[in-house]
Amino acid sequence: MCGIVGAVAKRNVVPILLQGLQRLEYRGYDSAGLVVVNEGKLQRARSTGRVSELTQKSSTTLGELGIAHTRWATHGVPSERNAHPHLSSEQIAVVHNGIIENYEELKQKLSGQGYAFTSDTDTEVIAHLIHSHYKQGKSLLEATQAALAELVGAYAIGVIAADNAHQFIAARKGSPLLLGVGDKENFVASDMSALLAVTRNVVYLEEGDVVEINLDSYRIFDAKGNLVNRPLMVSELSNDSVELGAYRHYMLKEIYEQPQALANTLEAVCNSKSLVPGLFGAEANEAFQLIDRVLILACGTSHNAGMVARYWLEEIAGIPCIVEIASEYRYRTSVADPKTLVVTISQSGETADTLAALNHAKSLGQQHTLAICNVPESAIIRQSKLRFLTRAGPEIGVASTKAFTTQLAGLFLLTLVLAKMRGRLNGEQEQKFLHELRHLPSALQAVLNLAPDIEKLAEQFVNKHHALFLGRGLHYPIAQEGALKLKEISYIHAEAYPAGELKHGPLALVDKEMPVIAVAPNDTLLEKLKSNLQEVRARGGELYVFADANTKIASSEGVHVMQMPEHAGFLSPILHTIPLQLLAYYVALQKGTDVDKPRNLAKSVTVE
Ligand code: F6R
Repeated sequence: MCGIVGAVAKRNVVPILLQGLQRLEYRGYDSAGLVVVNEGKLQRARSTGRVSELTQKSSTTLGELGIAHTRWATHGVPSERNAHPHLSSEQIAVVHNGIIENYEELKQKLSGQGYAFTSDTDTEVIAHLIHSHYKQGKSLLEATQAALAELVGAYAIGVIAADNAHQFIAARKGSPLLLGVGDKENFVASDMSALLAVTRNVVYLEEGDVVEINLDSYRIFDAKGNLVNRPLMVSELSNDSVELGAYRHYMLKEIYEQPQALANTLEAVCNSKSLVPGLFGAEANEAFQLIDRVLILACGTSHNAGMVARYWLEEIAGIPCIVEIASEYRYRTSVADPKTLVVTISQSGETADTLAALNHAKSLGQQHTLAICNVPESAIIRQSKLRFLTRAGPEIGVASTKAFTTQLAGLFLLTLVLAKMRGRLNGEQEQKFLHELRHLPSALQAVLNLAPDIEKLAEQFVNKHHALFLGRGLHYPIAQEGALKLKEISYIHAEAYPAGELKHGPLALVDKEMPVIAVAPNDTLLEKLKSNLQEVRARGGELYVFADANTKIASSEGVHVMQMPEHAGFLSPILHTIPLQLLAYYVALQKGTDVDKPRNLAKSVTVE
C-alpha cells in the first residue's frame, strides 16, 4: 500500500528519500513522487513508473527538507497528476496514506474559497485545507492541527511549507507512521525498512499523534493537542533481511527461507520439554481457562491459515471454532459471546479490515484477544492482550509465503496448548507432536527439492486461462491458498473446491482445457479423493496431483503425479503448501508477470 518517507537534514535529502521509496516498493504502488524545499520554493518530481524512473526525473532536484511517496490508487486513476505530493498555491506540499471520507464536502467548500483542484485525489483537499489556515498566520503545526480537526477518515501525512526550510509536520490516524531520529537530522516513514540506511532509532507514533520535526529536535502532540513523550526504541530489523541477495525475486527467496523461518518461529518450543500457555503471553494461562470457543478473524492468505486451524482446533482441542473474513465480520450483526478467544491473524499487523474487526469484536464485549502476527510493533499486536510472533522476518514479496507457514506453526501450537489445558493431550501425545514440530524445518527442506520438477510442470500452465484446485478436509484450505497464489501472481483465474463438492456444480467446467490440481495427502479421505479424481479424468480434465508417498496414485495419460514425502499427519498442510507456492511462482515467471509486485495489489492493505 502507499508509502511515505520524509527527511530534514544538513545535506541533500533526495538520495535518502529515493532510497527509502525503493525500500517501500515491495508494498506495491502505481506512481511515485517527491518534493523538496529549494531556496524558498517547492521543487517536485512525479512519475507513473518505477522509483528508478523517479530517480532519473529528480536528478537535478536538491534540498535539505523533503517528503516522498509511493501511491496505490484509491481515489482517481494511477496517473502523474494524481501522484503525490500534492501542492497548494506552490506553498504547501502534502503526502498522504489512507482515505479521507468527507473529501467531497471539503472540496466543495475549498472550491468556494477559490482553490483550484488539479487532481482527482482526496489528498489534495488536505493540502488546500492546511494552506487555508497557514495563510491566516498560523504556524505550520497549528495549520496542520486545524486542518486535521476537519478531516473524517484515515491518514498518515507528511507536510512541508516552501518558506520553512528545516521543519516539517507529520501525523497519523488509522495508518501507520513512525519517526526516525538521527544525529542532527530526522525522518519519518510508514515502515521502518525505509529508514534503515539512515537510522535505527525509532519512535512509533500513536493514533492521533501530530509531530513537529526540526533538524535536532521534535515535539509530539497527542490527539487532544497535549505535548507527550513517546518511547525511543532501537529497531532490530536487519538490513540484510530486506536485501534480495542472489535470488531473482523476493517471493522465491521467501519460499526458500521457510525452513529457517519455521525454525525461528518454533525456537521457544525446540528446547522445552512441554508446552505452556505462556507462549502466548503472560496472561494466556488465565485467559485460556475462561474461554470455551474461538473466533478467528483475518483476510486473504491469513484467513486461509485460520481455516486450517479450525480443523485442528475442533479435532485436537475439541473447541468450537469459527473463522471469518475480517471485512465481513466487522459489518455483520453477530451473536457475541464473552467466553470467546478472538484470534486475529496478520502478516503485517496493519491490515485495516482485520484491525477494525478486532476492535468490533472487542466492542461487543469479547475481551480475550490474541494476535498471531509477523510484525512486533504493529497495531494489531499493540491492540491485543495476547500475542504470538511468527518469526518469519520481513516479507517483501506481495504474495505471502513464509508468513503463511509460520502462522500455521503458531496456530498448531495454540491448538496443542488448548488441547492440553482441556485434558485432550496426554504426555506421550505431547512429546510426539513436539518431535514432529522440531522435524518440520527439515521435512520442508526436502519438499523444496521438488522445485526443478515443478518448474518443468509449470510450462503446461502458461497458456491456460483457468485452473481448479481440489483438496479435502485439512487440505481444502491449502487448495484455496494454492488458487490464491496462482491467481494473484500469474493472473490465471483459479478456484478451489473441496473435492466432494465437484459434482454439485464445478464439474461442469471440466474439459481438456481445465487443469485440475489436487492436494493428495495419505490421510483418511484419500480413497474419497481418488474417486473425485476419477470424476475429473472421466470428463477429460488434465490432473496434476501432489501425492504423498504410498498413496498409490500413479502418473498415466492425463495424470501428472508429483511425489511428496511420507504423510506428515496433522502437519501435512504445511508441507503441501510448498509445491503450490512453487507452482504459482514458476508459472508467473514463465508468463513474465511482475512476481513480487503483481498488478493492482499491495503488500499491506492499510485502507478499507
Ligand atoms: C496473499 C496476500 C494477502 C494477505 C492479506 C492479509 O498472498 O498476501 O491475501 O494475506 O492482505 O494481509 P495480512 O496478513 O498482512 O493481514
